[in-house]
Amino acid sequence: MLNSVVNRIIDGQHWLEPVADFLQKVVGGTYKALGAPGTALKSFNHGTWLGHPLHPVLTDIPLGAWTMAVIFDIIYIFNRSHTWTSAADATTFIGILAALATAVTGFTDWNETFGRERRVGAAHGLINTVALLLFIVSLIVGLTGGSRAIAIVVAFVGYALLLSAAFLGGELVFSIGTGVNHHAWQQVPEKFTRVMLEGQLKDGVLIRGLAGDTPILLYKNGETVCAISETCSHAGGPLSEGKIVGNLVQCPWHGSRFDVCSGAVKQGPATVSQVRYETRMQNGQLEVKVSEHTLQPN
Ligand code: FES
Repeated sequence: MLNSVVNRIIDGQHWLEPVADFLQKVVGGTYKALGAPGTALKSFNHGTWLGHPLHPVLTDIPLGAWTMAVIFDIIYIFNRSHTWTSAADATTFIGILAALATAVTGFTDWNETFGRERRVGAAHGLINTVALLLFIVSLIVGLTGGSRAIAIVVAFVGYALLLSAAFLGGELVFSIGTGVNHHAWQQVPEKFTRVMLEGQLKDGVLIRGLAGDTPILLYKNGETVCAISETCSHAGGPLSEGKIVGNLVQCPWHGSRFDVCSGAVKQGPATVSQVRYETRMQNGQLEVKVSEHTLQPN
């Protein structure tokens, strides 16, 4: 109920589109301008090294710190001891530092979105940015001897915005599926299952096959036939339409790279490795089953 109201409001904010266009140009352009280090930094900020998106790991820190700050402010209202204002200032400062890193990772993930996902993500990011600015203002007012009442009110408004942005963050993941492993629900053949005739494989060419209903990416290199999940874990891109770069397959949608034989994720935005399959030839047919060495957590 609440989410349909919120979504109607966001869908009515047509000004978000040009703002999102501009921000994506800035974020994408900055990483691009940095060249190879920018690509590595972008993967780092996505959380590829962690095997998990980095942004949701970090969000708890500002949320927790600013929750503490608000609690300390409330205690101060009743207690009037400056111990509590010092505690509020310290936790506000910690929250600001953590929020900066959280914002960088969030905008990095958001840069690969489009459509409604991009619109909701833009609203989430912009509201959080305003909340961050309000906490900065609150801290400055508090530390420079300004009105403590104003500092507290500004922090409370920032905290309310933070909670509404958190609601949108949940909406992004749980309703829209942003950042969710896109082959998490695919059937994985546990026993050798026929995919195609051996003669249909071509050396050095990415080929899509089906094991039952499960799309498999096949890559023949001499005598070796490698098989991994064909559906990109990031957002479901078709890896068979991507390209081979050395021993890596690059997704055609946002450029994630995976080891074409082990399925290991090597470059973001993906953070989850592809399912790895064992292959064998049986009576002229290629068969696959999930490998016990697969890096995919499912
Ligand atoms: S779908 Fe985004 S990198 Fe593959």
